[in-house]
Amino acid sequence: MKQYLTVDEWSIIEEGFHPKYNQISESVFSLGNGRMGQRANFEEAFSGETLQGNYVAGVYYPDKTRVGWWKNGYPEYFAKVLNAANWIGIDVKVEGETLDLHKCQVLDFRRELNMREGWLERTYTALLPTGQQVRVKSKRFTSIVDDEVGVIQYSITPINFSGTLTLTPYIDADIKNADSNYNEKFWNEVHQEALATEGYVVAETKKTFFHVCTGQKIVVTQNGQPVEVKAKPTQKAKYIASTFDLAVEQDQETVLYKYAANLSSQNHAKEDLLANTKKVVAAAAQKGFEQMLQQQAQAWAAKWEESDIVIEGDAAAQQGIRFNIFQLNQTYTGEDERLNIGPKGFTGEKYGGTTYWDTEAYCLPFYLATADPQIPRNLLIYRYKHLQKAIENAEKLGFTGGAALYPMVTMNGEECHNEWEITFEEIHRNGAIAHAIHDYIRYTGDDSYLQEYGIEVLVGISRFWAQRVNWSAAKNQYVMLGVTGPNEYENNVNNNWYTSTIATWTLEYTIKALQHVQANWPERYQELVQKLNLQVEKETGQWQHVIDHMYYPEDKELGIFLQQDGFLDKEQTLVKDLPESERPLNQKWSWDRILRSVFIKQADVLQGIYLFEDRYDLDTIRRNYDFYEPRTVHESSLSPCVHSILAAKLGDEERAYEFYLRTARLDLDDYNNDTEDGCHITSMAGTWMSVVQGFGGMRVRDNQLHFNPFIPAGWSSYSFKIRFRGHLLNIKVTKENVQIENQHTNAITLNVFGQPQTIEANAKGEFAHQLV
Ligand code: BGC
Repeated sequence: MKQYLTVDEWSIIEEGFHPKYNQISESVFSLGNGRMGQRANFEEAFSGETLQGNYVAGVYYPDKTRVGWWKNGYPEYFAKVLNAANWIGIDVKVEGETLDLHKCQVLDFRRELNMREGWLERTYTALLPTGQQVRVKSKRFTSIVDDEVGVIQYSITPINFSGTLTLTPYIDADIKNADSNYNEKFWNEVHQEALATEGYVVAETKKTFFHVCTGQKIVVTQNGQPVEVKAKPTQKAKYIASTFDLAVEQDQETVLYKYAANLSSQNHAKEDLLANTKKVVAAAAQKGFEQMLQQQAQAWAAKWEESDIVIEGDAAAQQGIRFNIFQLNQTYTGEDERLNIGPKGFTGEKYGGTTYWDTEAYCLPFYLATADPQIPRNLLIYRYKHLQKAIENAEKLGFTGGAALYPMVTMNGEECHNEWEITFEEIHRNGAIAHAIHDYIRYTGDDSYLQEYGIEVLVGISRFWAQRVNWSAAKNQYVMLGVTGPNEYENNVNNNWYTSTIATWTLEYTIKALQHVQANWPERYQELVQKLNLQVEKETGQWQHVIDHMYYPEDKELGIFLQQDGFLDKEQTLVKDLPESERPLNQKWSWDRILRSVFIKQADVLQGIYLFEDRYDLDTIRRNYDFYEPRTVHESSLSPCVHSILAAKLGDEERAYEFYLRTARLDLDDYNNDTEDGCHITSMAGTWMSVVQGFGGMRVRDNQLHFNPFIPAGWSSYSFKIRFRGHLLNIKVTKENVQIENQHTNAITLNVFGQPQTIEANAKGEFAHQLV
């Protein structure tokens, strides 16, 4: 745990230079706009510890798999969103000496990520080894208005000398992923052009042949007036630059504006890429930094208007939740159904920018409640488009007849993961993808999604589950053998309760969904039956048989569901008895010891209870929570939020708050000692869920919103915005009451503390706290 960042409600601030935490800061201060993103690297040279990172959404490379022992069915490669051209680079020489903070004395230093307006600023004074002092202020952002553009305002002022500055703004596409499996570079050069104050590099990914054109245009001012610079273009392999000298006076400010763009062949024809990049860069330069910044601030204000959470009385919690919402909005904007949400977003290479079940299980609820419904819909369509690949994936493993197994990790629908116990066995992801369809329809009411796309995915997944179970003559029931549940600290288990539960839930939901489509869109239903070659009676009959005869491990005496067969055979020690020195277990214990232990990495049975809570009475939920929570080490960032929501449901407000804090400031305080790899973007949505579903007790049932809020002891109030079926609601919870403001022109009926309530258009309802 590190606490070197200043607490501020709207900004992340680092006061003073902390070189040993530089890579953590590079992750935390990251910028993104859904289309591209980058770590907070410095513009000028830096020879200290750094992880360079620039990413263009959807531009990936299949890096050949590296495993010790090959297993049939392993994917050939791991797709990674590539580390792409560095477009921020500006080499600075002061009287011929390179400005490099690692070699300078840094006299003051401040960086700020302004979340309200969406920009990053860094100011410092550096004393060079040669004695000159300069003051630098750089401000930059990736535009959410012009999402192919990034701009930098780089200002430099000599403090104790007059002389010559040499500036070299550049674009470097000669980049290698730090995690390249065979130490290879993944980019080839296609074309480059270097003019006096602008330049372009078109690079191509090997194997996938994406083209990305990165361009820059430079404008320089002194004392606020544009100056003509005599720039000399330079070209090297995959690199262009413009170099120029400037005579500078002591205390005179020189500002270099760098207008940059990244255009990819995903969105432009390859032959137009260069010309289009020139146009985009020219238009940005024409608009100018100040106007772009103003538009950026306005666009962010609009995003906050719909997705902010305001906490009064706890600035650290406020900063934490805003940071989470900010990073989610920087990562995924939802206009492009080919894109998804990597667990680290654009903040690092880990997890390769690929898609995990995190998207459906954790991120979807955030986008459902805070964005236009088209945005979460695009997340579903992403999986719909991968259905054929999921069927092929299942075929590779021996399944037939249109059974679909979605990959554990994917970029384009193909499986990328290569640990057999996860790739082949952590199949609960299939359930999360089916459940997301239900979640989307429950929230938006858009049941037409079923006939358009949803049914096909549900049938594919149901066919998989029906083949993945087998009849046990000994038990006279269906069993599901050789699986890994969400708790990855147990592999290859039989009858994981969560996986079996979500499997039969999928079968039930698919049967209902088919009936719904048949009743409402009979022609489309016939079309789908033909397209899917569905033998309705036979297949749904078989699914029903599985539903009716599935085996779920449980312990009747303890009154709990068992994570899997034999769970109680384990030595029943508790997390509280683990010495701090032995944690995290995944760094301190052998894998063998972890697997045999009772310790649970992340919510597993509790994940199922969270998803299907309406099936269980409070006593059942409490017994399971009381049993599993003391055995859970939460070594996945996805875990505490689920425990927080269940604790809130059980009325354990203190623990609900404790778990919330663990996720809200996970990266700001580097809680898990791994923020340098990138931020935990997908679990940030879990933090949001802890507030809205946990403290706010928000649920959707029978087409209505339900709230059952409490307020954490240390807060004076909190409020959150929710979109729901065309309404925008602001829910504010104070110590005294709950206020729900309907910012829409139609009345809404919802449910507060178990009572139906109607709130008129543009009106506010106030409700006294109640224990329900
Ligand atoms: C978790 C998985 C998760 C993955 C990516 C792992 O540590 O156990 O549930 O999908 O991280 O976030």
